[in-house]
Amino acid sequence: MARHTLEIHGAELGYRDIRVMDDLSVTIPEGQITTLIGPNGSGKSTILHALARILKPRRGSVLLDGRNIHDHPTREVAKVLALLPQAPHAPDGLSVWELVSFGRFPYRGWFDADAPDDRQVVEEALDAVGLEDLATRPVATLSGGQRQRVWIAMALAQQTGLILLDEPTTYLDPGHQIEILDLLRRLNRREGKTIVMALHDLNLAARYADFMVVVFNGGVLAADAPERVLTSDVLRNAFGLDAEIIPDPRRGTPMCVVYSDRAVSPDNPEDKESVRRSRSCCCDSPSTGS
Ligand SMILES: Nc1ncnc2c1ncn2[C@@H]1O[C@H](COP(=O)(O)OP(=O)(O)O)[C@@H](O)[C@H]1O
Ligand SMILES: [Mg+2]
Repeated sequence: MARHTLEIHGAELGYRDIRVMDDLSVTIPEGQITTLIGPNGSGKSTILHALARILKPRRGSVLLDGRNIHDHPTREVAKVLALLPQAPHAPDGLSVWELVSFGRFPYRGWFDADAPDDRQVVEEALDAVGLEDLATRPVATLSGGQRQRVWIAMALAQQTGLILLDEPTTYLDPGHQIEILDLLRRLNRREGKTIVMALHDLNLAARYADFMVVVFNGGVLAADAPERVLTSDVLRNAFGLDAEIIPDPRRGTPMCVVYSDRAVSPDNPEDKESVRRSRSCCCDSPSTGS
């Protein structure tokens, strides 16, 4: 699988009169899994949209393979990068096979008949997510976990080295959440795909990440390996949480246990010191910005 680089430099992101990100710089590590965490409305989806070329930065740039992503033709970007949006909706009556076939659009017209190569790629994508027996089923009749696997198969059929996913485990029960995350990790480890995903669950985000980004207050509060990012200071500052961090008993990755809400005040000297500590421990690496 060809590797591709993706970076944001000094980007201001927003919508009409709303400024969401101020001066955002992040480099997505190639061939790794990056998770984005942050409170609701902090800008995780906005960042994914900018990375996927859906939202153009007002200032600064997104670079794909070192070149401004808006200078790449749409079809070329779609051969390199797939985005699975938050809560995607399939048109009524569409079968699993038909939806997954839409992943082939960069290689042909939207409504062209399947070419033999396309059919093979779609079959392989369905195999990879374990849905080969459900190809003819209408997507609307599937369970939430199966449906999410169909969307992932569509992204796989796009045959991109980069896959961006916006909260792919939302609305799934714990078993199906793990199933989807294990599938994504397999794709990363076996095929070297670079995966970037926004996740709500802090412990899963830490467990599955090689690199973790905390989005807060118009920027990146921390971006580093999970054990350097999931700290009491970061959780207090980004989420206003009182939390202890302990090692996962099986894997040793950091886990948080949350005790209570506690308002963080910029006027409280203890909170000020804690913001300073979380920024300096996590955002000094040359590859990331704050
Ligand atoms: N299409 C849009 N138009 C206007 N404002 C938007 C739009 N999408 C998101 N926003 C605003 O941008 C901010 C960040 O939203 P979002 O990126 O969706 O956050 P998150 O994914 O972290 O919950 C929020 O204040 C949200 O209301
Ligand atoms: Mg979102």
